[in-house]
Amino acid sequence: MSDLYDEIRDVAAQYPVRRSAVLPALRLAQDHYGWLPPQAFRDVAEALELTPAYCQSVASFYDMFHLEPVGRCLIEVCTNISCALVGAQAVLEQFENELGITAGQTTADGEFTLRTVECAGGCGWGTVVAIDHRYREHVKADDVGGILSELRGAEPVGVGRGPGVSEDGAVGDGAA
Ligand code: FES
Repeated sequence: MSDLYDEIRDVAAQYPVRRSAVLPALRLAQDHYGWLPPQAFRDVAEALELTPAYCQSVASFYDMFHLEPVGRCLIEVCTNISCALVGAQAVLEQFENELGITAGQTTADGEFTLRTVECAGGCGWGTVVAIDHRYREHVKADDVGGILSELRGAEPVGVGRGPGVSEDGAVGDGAA
């Protein structure tokens, strides 16, 4: 059995019902592959004694799971109402202009994936931009160039981690 199988089984052992571990198991698989290819669902299904279709259906519900490959760095701009009122569209367009892509795309060099999200839960601090799920707050269009300069060549935080989950797996506030 693979290391991933063993990791998932270890996590599942912490739950009274094995299938309840499907979310952390999917996260482990995403950390392993960088996204969730069909093999990831087969791996999770085997370890939890579920079907791959069930695992895929769960993953498809959550933005934090990547059903397609993403770039080395994932940039998510909140465009929901509170952020929209303080300039989220201008922030998004600046990212699009500087990266030469539109939301939903990845740059040709595989460095950046740009997406929009519906409310990142930081409505009082818009515009919120998540970089590999770590939040930047009060982002203005003028900040975009500096953010991209900072990110180019920087080590990725790890796109498989969910909001507020630190390098050691502890759950925090998600602040950058
Ligand atoms: S609307 Fe942007 S964080 Fe809620």
